[in-house]
Amino acid sequence: MLTVLHGSDVHFGKPHRPNVAAGFLKLVQQVSPDVVVLAGDLTQRAKVREYEQARAYLREFGDVPVVVTPGNHDIPLYRVYERLFAPFRNYQEFICQELDTATQVGGAVFVALNSVHPHRGLVNGRIAEHQLDFLARIFQETSGADVRIVVMHHALAPPPDGGLDAVIPRNRDLLDRFRELEVDLILGGHLHRGFVTSSSEVRPDHRDRGDIAIVHSGTATSSRGRAAEKGENSVNVLKIDRKVIEVTPYWYLEHMTGFVAREPIRVRSGA
Ligand SMILES: [Fe+2]
Ligand SMILES: [Fe+2]
Repeated sequence: MLTVLHGSDVHFGKPHRPNVAAGFLKLVQQVSPDVVVLAGDLTQRAKVREYEQARAYLREFGDVPVVVTPGNHDIPLYRVYERLFAPFRNYQEFICQELDTATQVGGAVFVALNSVHPHRGLVNGRIAEHQLDFLARIFQETSGADVRIVVMHHALAPPPDGGLDAVIPRNRDLLDRFRELEVDLILGGHLHRGFVTSSSEVRPDHRDRGDIAIVHSGTATSSRGRAAEKGENSVNVLKIDRKVIEVTPYWYLEHMTGFVAREPIRVRSGA
């Protein structure tokens, strides 16, 4: 059984909430996860100061492996020259040199794919062909892994409360490719609301074979929650084994000064 603490959109900068960030650290202690996943938008404006804070924060997780991926806010929006010619400079300097990464923990392999396209599709993202080759290669090298997890910032399926425009272009094709590669689970962020869905919502034939669980975290520590999570903060704790993925959403409650569990959702059973 693998325990994953999945957050996203910590947004160091103006919208960041330090008290909630402290609550998230407390949750790390409490849950003692095997892996922490932060699915992009570490900063608000990709500034050096924000990245310094993000890096210092990541160091506070201690020994637990942290899987990170860039979000659209992790490249400059207004510093156009930098966006065009060195969009990931600060991310690579302060967070991780590699933009696509692989992390193996226990029986699971996490492949984080950078879905941020600096020139077009800034809001809804892109995945390039060479990244799918990277994914295939990693899975080949880790063929003994029980669970295959993709981490990317942008959404491959819409949230249950609507917003078809919120998904990455070519999402159906990408989900087919992920199914061919036997991906079990996709972890995302970006929409600032947590939800659980699966690839069969946009590819009904996946229901018969190879349905992929898709789990998004709300904004872990920023004031930018949307829709039902306006002004709220939420993250997920996943318990994963070969047969079942159980997702427990945790919402931050001010009066509890911490994240508190909601009803778990069982999202997939290979039994
Ligand atoms: Fe965000
Ligand atoms: Fe985003």
